[in-house]
Amino acid sequence: MERLQKVIANSGITSRRKAEEMISAGRVKVNGLLVTTLGEKVSKKDIIVVDGKEISIEENVYFVLNKPSGYLSSVSDDKNRKVVVDLINTKKRIFPIGRLDYNTTGVLLLTNDGELTNQLIHPKHHVEKEYVATVTGIFTSKHRKLFSAGVDIGDYVTAPCQSKLVKMEKKINISIVNVIIKEGKYHQIKRMFEAVGLKVKKLKRVRFGNITDKGLKLGEYRLMKPHEIKVIRELSKN
Ligand code: URA
Repeated sequence: MERLQKVIANSGITSRRKAEEMISAGRVKVNGLLVTTLGEKVSKKDIIVVDGKEISIEENVYFVLNKPSGYLSSVSDDKNRKVVVDLINTKKRIFPIGRLDYNTTGVLLLTNDGELTNQLIHPKHHVEKEYVATVTGIFTSKHRKLFSAGVDIGDYVTAPCQSKLVKMEKKINISIVNVIIKEGKYHQIKRMFEAVGLKVKKLKRVRFGNITDKGLKLGEYRLMKPHEIKVIRELSKN
Protein backbone atom coordinates (compact mmCIF):
# COMPACT_ATOMS: atom_id res chain seq x y z
CA MET A 1 0.00 0.00 0.00
CA GLU A 2 1.24 3.46 -0.86
CA ARG A 3 0.01 6.98 -0.36
CA LEU A 4 -2.32 8.16 -3.08
CA GLN A 5 -0.31 11.32 -3.84
CA LYS A 6 2.89 9.26 -4.22
CA VAL A 7 1.18 6.86 -6.62
CA ILE A 8 -0.17 9.74 -8.72
CA ALA A 9 3.25 11.43 -8.82
CA ASN A 10 4.86 8.12 -9.71
CA SER A 11 2.60 7.73 -12.72
CA GLY A 12 4.47 10.70 -14.16
CA ILE A 13 1.59 13.11 -14.61
CA THR A 14 2.72 15.54 -11.95
CA SER A 15 4.84 16.15 -8.84
CA ARG A 16 3.85 14.89 -5.41
CA ARG A 17 2.99 18.38 -4.19
CA LYS A 18 0.77 19.04 -7.19
CA ALA A 19 -0.83 15.62 -6.73
CA GLU A 20 -1.78 16.69 -3.21
CA GLU A 21 -3.38 19.84 -4.62
CA MET A 22 -5.27 17.75 -7.18
CA ILE A 23 -6.63 15.51 -4.43
CA SER A 24 -7.70 18.49 -2.29
CA ALA A 25 -9.31 20.10 -5.34
CA GLY A 26 -11.52 17.05 -5.85
CA ARG A 27 -9.95 15.91 -9.11
CA VAL A 28 -9.14 12.37 -7.96
CA LYS A 29 -11.34 9.29 -7.61
CA VAL A 30 -10.37 5.92 -6.17
CA ASN A 31 -12.59 3.00 -7.22
CA GLY A 32 -15.24 5.45 -8.33
CA LEU A 33 -15.29 7.43 -5.10
CA LEU A 34 -14.06 10.99 -4.77
CA VAL A 35 -11.11 11.36 -2.37
CA THR A 36 -10.37 14.85 -1.11
CA THR A 37 -8.39 14.17 2.04
CA LEU A 38 -4.67 13.45 2.04
CA GLY A 39 -3.23 10.30 3.55
CA GLU A 40 -5.38 7.73 1.75
CA LYS A 41 -3.43 4.59 0.88
CA VAL A 42 -3.95 2.59 -2.27
CA SER A 43 -2.77 -0.73 -3.69
CA LYS A 44 -2.18 -2.07 -7.19
CA LYS A 45 -5.77 -3.34 -7.30
CA ASP A 46 -7.27 0.12 -6.87
CA ILE A 47 -8.48 2.08 -9.85
CA ILE A 48 -7.30 5.67 -9.68
CA VAL A 49 -8.83 8.26 -11.93
CA VAL A 50 -7.42 11.79 -12.23
CA ASP A 51 -9.45 14.35 -14.17
CA GLY A 52 -11.51 11.52 -15.64
CA LYS A 53 -8.49 9.52 -16.82
CA GLU A 54 -7.31 6.28 -15.27
CA ILE A 55 -3.65 6.18 -14.27
CA SER A 56 -1.60 3.01 -14.33
CA ILE A 57 0.07 1.49 -11.31
CA GLU A 58 2.84 -0.88 -12.13
CA GLU A 59 6.08 -2.00 -10.53
CA ASN A 60 8.87 0.46 -11.20
CA VAL A 61 11.72 -0.54 -13.47
CA TYR A 62 14.98 1.30 -14.06
CA PHE A 63 17.22 0.71 -17.06
CA VAL A 64 20.59 2.09 -18.17
CA LEU A 65 21.00 2.19 -21.93
CA ASN A 66 24.15 2.98 -23.89
CA LYS A 67 22.29 4.95 -26.51
CA PRO A 68 23.51 4.57 -30.07
CA SER A 69 23.44 7.40 -32.56
CA GLY A 70 20.34 7.62 -34.76
CA TYR A 71 17.72 7.20 -32.02
CA LEU A 72 15.35 9.79 -30.63
CA SER A 73 15.15 10.09 -26.83
CA SER A 74 11.44 9.60 -26.93
CA VAL A 75 8.69 6.96 -26.66
CA SER A 76 7.31 7.53 -30.15
CA ASP A 77 7.87 9.66 -33.22
CA ASP A 78 5.37 10.98 -35.70
CA LYS A 79 8.00 10.81 -38.47
CA ASN A 80 8.63 7.12 -37.76
CA ARG A 81 12.23 7.57 -36.70
CA LYS A 82 13.71 5.01 -34.33
CA VAL A 83 13.18 5.77 -30.64
CA VAL A 84 15.18 4.64 -27.61
CA VAL A 85 12.38 2.58 -26.03
CA ASP A 86 12.50 0.31 -29.11
CA LEU A 87 15.87 -0.92 -27.86
CA ILE A 88 14.51 -2.19 -24.55
CA ASN A 89 12.55 -5.37 -24.18
CA THR A 90 9.85 -4.62 -21.62
CA LYS A 91 6.09 -4.46 -21.49
CA LYS A 92 6.23 -1.62 -18.99
CA ARG A 93 5.53 1.90 -20.17
CA ILE A 94 9.01 3.31 -19.77
CA PHE A 95 10.29 6.70 -20.87
CA PRO A 96 13.74 8.30 -20.96
CA ILE A 97 14.89 10.49 -18.07
CA GLY A 98 15.72 13.64 -20.00
CA ARG A 99 17.11 13.61 -23.51
CA LEU A 100 20.19 13.00 -25.55
CA ASP A 101 20.26 14.41 -29.08
CA TYR A 102 19.52 12.09 -32.01
CA ASN A 103 23.23 11.68 -32.76
CA THR A 104 24.53 11.77 -29.19
CA THR A 105 25.52 8.42 -27.71
CA GLY A 106 25.96 7.17 -24.17
CA VAL A 107 24.26 6.86 -20.83
CA LEU A 108 20.51 7.29 -20.89
CA LEU A 109 18.31 6.16 -18.04
CA LEU A 110 14.80 4.91 -18.72
CA THR A 111 12.09 4.16 -16.20
CA ASN A 112 8.37 4.22 -15.55
CA ASP A 113 9.02 6.13 -12.29
CA GLY A 114 7.57 9.51 -13.10
CA GLU A 115 8.38 10.96 -9.73
CA LEU A 116 12.10 10.19 -9.94
CA THR A 117 12.10 11.47 -13.53
CA ASN A 118 10.54 14.76 -12.50
CA GLN A 119 13.07 15.15 -9.70
CA LEU A 120 16.05 14.36 -11.90
CA ILE A 121 15.11 16.70 -14.71
CA HIS A 122 13.93 19.52 -12.47
CA PRO A 123 16.27 22.52 -12.94
CA LYS A 124 16.66 23.02 -9.22
CA HIS A 125 18.27 19.61 -8.78
CA HIS A 126 21.83 19.29 -9.89
CA VAL A 127 22.91 15.85 -10.89
CA GLU A 128 26.28 15.67 -12.65
CA LYS A 129 26.34 14.66 -16.28
CA GLU A 130 29.72 13.90 -17.78
CA TYR A 131 30.37 14.14 -21.51
CA VAL A 132 33.23 13.41 -23.84
CA ALA A 133 33.11 15.74 -26.83
CA THR A 134 35.15 15.45 -29.99
CA VAL A 135 35.48 19.00 -31.29
CA THR A 136 36.97 20.75 -34.26
CA GLY A 137 39.61 23.18 -33.06
CA ILE A 138 42.14 23.18 -30.27
CA PHE A 139 40.77 23.34 -26.74
CA THR A 140 43.07 25.54 -24.70
CA SER A 141 43.22 26.80 -21.13
CA LYS A 142 41.38 29.90 -22.39
CA HIS A 143 38.39 27.71 -23.25
CA ARG A 144 38.65 25.84 -19.96
CA LYS A 145 38.58 29.14 -18.06
CA LEU A 146 35.55 30.32 -20.02
CA PHE A 147 33.72 27.08 -19.14
CA SER A 148 34.66 27.41 -15.51
CA ALA A 149 33.33 30.98 -15.44
CA GLY A 150 30.08 30.12 -17.26
CA VAL A 151 29.29 30.87 -20.91
CA ASP A 152 26.47 32.73 -22.59
CA ILE A 153 24.72 30.25 -24.90
CA GLY A 154 22.18 32.72 -26.21
CA ASP A 155 19.23 32.56 -23.90
CA TYR A 156 21.14 31.43 -20.84
CA VAL A 157 24.46 31.71 -19.03
CA THR A 158 25.68 28.30 -17.96
CA ALA A 159 26.81 27.56 -14.43
CA PRO A 160 30.55 27.18 -13.86
CA CYS A 161 31.64 23.72 -14.92
CA GLN A 162 34.70 21.51 -15.03
CA SER A 163 36.35 20.66 -18.33
CA LYS A 164 39.55 18.90 -19.28
CA LEU A 165 41.44 18.28 -22.48
CA VAL A 166 41.77 14.52 -22.89
CA LYS A 167 43.56 14.37 -26.23
CA MET A 168 44.62 16.69 -28.98
CA GLU A 169 45.29 15.85 -32.65
CA LYS A 170 46.95 19.04 -33.83
CA LYS A 171 47.49 17.80 -37.39
CA ILE A 172 43.80 17.24 -37.99
CA ASN A 173 42.71 20.11 -35.74
CA ILE A 174 40.69 17.96 -33.33
CA SER A 175 40.39 18.00 -29.53
CA ILE A 176 38.73 15.50 -27.25
CA VAL A 177 37.34 17.19 -24.18
CA ASN A 178 35.74 15.93 -21.01
CA VAL A 179 33.03 18.22 -19.60
CA ILE A 180 30.94 17.85 -16.47
CA ILE A 181 27.74 19.87 -16.25
CA LYS A 182 24.94 19.88 -13.72
CA GLU A 183 22.28 21.52 -15.85
CA GLY A 184 20.54 20.13 -18.90
CA LYS A 185 19.60 22.91 -21.28
CA TYR A 186 18.66 22.09 -24.86
CA HIS A 187 21.84 21.24 -26.85
CA GLN A 188 23.80 22.59 -23.92
CA ILE A 189 27.20 21.05 -24.63
CA LYS A 190 27.08 21.84 -28.34
CA ARG A 191 26.02 25.40 -27.62
CA MET A 192 28.73 25.85 -24.98
CA PHE A 193 31.46 24.85 -27.42
CA GLU A 194 29.92 26.96 -30.14
CA ALA A 195 29.88 29.94 -27.78
CA VAL A 196 33.67 29.64 -27.36
CA GLY A 197 34.33 29.14 -31.07
CA LEU A 198 34.60 25.34 -31.30
CA LYS A 199 32.31 22.85 -33.04
CA VAL A 200 31.18 19.52 -31.60
CA LYS A 201 31.58 16.71 -34.13
CA LYS A 202 30.77 13.85 -31.81
CA LEU A 203 29.25 13.69 -28.36
CA LYS A 204 29.01 10.91 -25.83
CA ARG A 205 27.61 10.99 -22.30
CA VAL A 206 29.77 8.77 -20.15
CA ARG A 207 28.05 9.34 -16.81
CA PHE A 208 24.73 10.43 -15.38
CA GLY A 209 25.05 10.94 -11.60
CA ASN A 210 26.41 7.66 -10.28
CA ILE A 211 25.70 5.67 -13.47
CA THR A 212 28.31 5.11 -16.18
CA ASP A 213 28.33 3.26 -19.50
CA LYS A 214 30.84 0.73 -18.12
CA GLY A 215 30.34 -2.73 -19.59
CA LEU A 216 27.68 -1.64 -22.07
CA LYS A 217 28.33 -1.61 -25.79
CA LEU A 218 26.33 0.84 -27.92
CA GLY A 219 22.71 -0.29 -27.99
CA GLU A 220 23.11 -2.52 -24.93
CA TYR A 221 21.21 -1.96 -21.71
CA ARG A 222 20.87 -3.39 -18.22
CA LEU A 223 18.64 -3.05 -15.21
CA MET A 224 19.91 -0.70 -12.54
CA LYS A 225 20.91 -2.34 -9.28
CA PRO A 226 18.90 -1.54 -6.11
CA HIS A 227 21.81 0.37 -4.54
CA GLU A 228 22.24 2.41 -7.75
CA ILE A 229 18.56 3.36 -7.63
CA LYS A 230 18.93 4.33 -3.98
CA VAL A 231 21.95 6.55 -4.72
CA ILE A 232 20.39 8.28 -7.71
CA ARG A 233 17.26 8.93 -5.67
CA GLU A 234 19.42 10.62 -3.05
CA LEU A 235 21.29 12.61 -5.72
CA SER A 236 17.97 13.74 -7.19
CA LYS A 237 17.08 15.36 -3.87
CA ASN A 238 20.29 17.39 -3.55
N1 URA B 1 24.33 18.54 -24.84
C1 URA B 1 24.10 18.49 -26.17
O1 URA B 1 24.42 19.41 -26.89
N2 URA B 1 23.54 17.40 -26.67
C2 URA B 1 23.19 16.31 -25.92
O2 URA B 1 22.69 15.32 -26.45
C3 URA B 1 23.43 16.39 -24.54
C4 URA B 1 24.00 17.51 -24.02
